[in-house]
Amino acid sequence: MADAEPPPLAIITGGTSGIGLAVASRLMEDGYDVIVTGRNEERGAQAINQLRSCHENQNAAFLALQSTSWSDYGKLAEMVRGRQVHAVVASAAFGLQAHVTDTDPATFLEIMSVNVAAPLYLVEVLRPRLANPSSVVLISSDAGIDGEQALGAYSVSKAALNMLGRMMALDLAPQVRVNVVCPGDTVPGMRYLLRPGESERAADDYLGWTLPPRQRLGTARDTAELVAFLVSPRSDFMVGSVTVIDGGSRAGRPDVMHPPDGKHS
Ligand SMILES: NC(=O)c1ccc[n+]([C@@H]2O[C@H](COP(=O)([O-])OP(=O)(O)OC[C@H]3O[C@@H](n4cnc5c(N)ncnc54)[C@H](OP(=O)(O)O)[C@@H]3O)[C@@H](O)[C@H]2O)c1
Repeated sequence: MADAEPPPLAIITGGTSGIGLAVASRLMEDGYDVIVTGRNEERGAQAINQLRSCHENQNAAFLALQSTSWSDYGKLAEMVRGRQVHAVVASAAFGLQAHVTDTDPATFLEIMSVNVAAPLYLVEVLRPRLANPSSVVLISSDAGIDGEQALGAYSVSKAALNMLGRMMALDLAPQVRVNVVCPGDTVPGMRYLLRPGESERAADDYLGWTLPPRQRLGTARDTAELVAFLVSPRSDFMVGSVTVIDGGSRAGRPDVMHPPDGKHS
């Protein structure tokens, strides 16, 4: 009797927290084995426990990977040796709550390295193992569409990531479909979208966020559903797309002349 095909394999950077972790869980629901990466080993172990307890028929593994440590990618290539990779999701990112003109050059370069260069390098390292067909999804941000002055360098990096996704889509089609997702405000917010001097963001930071037209904040699961669609054959004709998922925040300017409650602010 022929050996059964192994399950499809997905690799998710930043898969130990937030959107990346929700993507890992959602893809396991669709039958994927997953490898999730992050820096913090304890958070990695917690993520794997959570994923395995929810999805007993699939495998979940953790790799400690620092986005800018190019030697760590060799360990990832070693980990997938002998297997094909069907989905790659780049979610790891960080930013600074500062104007771009107030961002020191070293921090600016680090933001560009983690948020833009690392996803490119990730795909390059995995390229020999990418299945035909396979999918890459880059997790960008609505700040990459309409830049936010208060998140200057982060906005620049996400705009660059959007274009990176489109150029990679041209380079890798038709075997690999590359698409970009731009979430809006998603609770509980990025751990590492820091004010100058902070090392981790306050957990309740999101309480001050403005609700979008959908009248609720985004959840990691919202974005994970879109990613599950983008890596599946149901989105077969989507190549190089940049899709906003933000409850309507960036749809346009709200009506200030005729507000729904009749009151002008
Ligand atoms: N949350 C939002 O409101 C929001 C809105 C728009 C876009 N996004 C985008 O969505 C993605 C995920 O955001 P999130 O809020 O869900 O993330 P998160 O909860 O802050 O998790 C970040 C993940 O990335 C890893 N990571 C961060 N810096 C890294 C580095 N230098 N090297 C390796 N791994 C690193 C973290 O691992 P460790 O903890 O181990 O360091 C963690 O697994 C990001 O690309 C972000 O820009 C988020």
